[in-house]
Amino acid sequence: MSHQFKTIIEPFRIHSVEPLRMTTLEQRQEAIQAAGYNLFSLRAEDVLIDLLTDSGTGAMSRDQWAAIQHGDESYAGSPSWFRFQEAVQDLFPFKHVIPTHQGRAAEKILFTVLGGPGKVIPNNTHFDTTRANVEFTGAEARDMVIPEGKQASTLHPFKGNIDLQALEGLLSERAADVPVVFITITNNSGGGQPVSLANIRAANEICRRYSVPLFLDACRFAENAWFIHEREDGQRSREIAEIVREMASLADGMTMSAKKDPFGNIGGWLAVNDDALADRCRNLLILTEGFPTYGGLAGRDLEAIAQGLREAVHPDYLRYRIRSTAYLGNALDAAGVPVVKPIGGHAVYLDALTLLPHIPPLQYPGQALSVALYEVGGIRSVEIGTVMFGRQPDGTEKPAAMELVRLAIPRRTYTQSHIDYVVEVVQQVALESATLPGYRMVDEPPSLRHFTARFAPIR
Ligand code: F0G
Repeated sequence: MSHQFKTIIEPFRIHSVEPLRMTTLEQRQEAIQAAGYNLFSLRAEDVLIDLLTDSGTGAMSRDQWAAIQHGDESYAGSPSWFRFQEAVQDLFPFKHVIPTHQGRAAEKILFTVLGGPGKVIPNNTHFDTTRANVEFTGAEARDMVIPEGKQASTLHPFKGNIDLQALEGLLSERAADVPVVFITITNNSGGGQPVSLANIRAANEICRRYSVPLFLDACRFAENAWFIHEREDGQRSREIAEIVREMASLADGMTMSAKKDPFGNIGGWLAVNDDALADRCRNLLILTEGFPTYGGLAGRDLEAIAQGLREAVHPDYLRYRIRSTAYLGNALDAAGVPVVKPIGGHAVYLDALTLLPHIPPLQYPGQALSVALYEVGGIRSVEIGTVMFGRQPDGTEKPAAMELVRLAIPRRTYTQSHIDYVVEVVQQVALESATLPGYRMVDEPPSLRHFTARFAPIR
């Protein structure tokens, strides 16, 4: 009989290490003030535990570093390109794969072709760059996640699902204005929540009826597939790769950031079935990214991603990945810290509105919380709330659907003791929460303001 042990162990051991730099409270207070209270403006060396993003920040495996040695830097037709294409199409059998330097480059190209004034692009929830790339063309980016997906503490196994009624409603009125429907797996801006196969299948059926293509923003496809494996009826016995292929089979194309689940430090792609669309996208690719067999990537990057894709769907890895994120979320929940539930795949999302009821949304409770986490414990997080999404295309500002602070977990990078430390720091900040100030923006760039805005505390 084999025993079941409750300790989650990292399914790897450490091969090469990076030092972390310890700082004092005074040093951090000085650093964040100099950064205009914007965590993106900190020097990474001044951060102890960097949970800003899970994008490009994961640890590569021995086999990925070995694959890098096979990188062939031929301008056209490199063998590394063919290995990349094969690895992508093994999981996502789309006819055309167009490599890009990262996800937003794929978005920029696709929406340049499909967007424009008068168009509407629905998505469960647009990520910030996706929304910005849609809006940049003059099109409207419309979020339509199910209602549960906007309530931080409501439990639902697939809180990332797109609202099928809202989708049908939009298409029945304006299908001609909708060049593409998007589903983001997992739903990053809505708490890293998964989308069920049944939901993708139903969205596919609606899109078919109105002859509108369905695309996946698939950055965290493997984590999404793991949730399907664990939570959806009849999926337990299937291989993760098989579930991924079924998700892909229900779509007409995808955009991808290979900096997430595929373990790339850089990279992405756009994949489509439509020949004419592929042609138009490739022409734009050559303008800004490069020739279609490298698209802004070095041959070695293509190799690292090809190998990473194989590792991303391994069940030992995914079990560890999802359970270790839940370990952080459940520990905070048990300590009474309000978090988005159930716990998502790549990150734990703190509910700043509930934790800081004295700070109104337009004084940025998420920003206040993320500054405090840095000052108190050197942890870098990211606000996903009114700072990120409050600015409207007409220049006005309104509160976002939720005021979240995301603790994103880089893949295979931090150990359980790092995470135990994070739990302690968040608990300490929660104890002091009534004393935290709100913020005002003192310098605001015209788009994607959260990256470079400067703030001042309201004392
Ligand atoms: N789509 C989603 C759902 C994302 O989470 C991201 C990036 C992108 C597209 C764009 O990809 O960064 O390669 O250009 N998300 C990162 C994050 C930056 O921190 O969540 P990219």
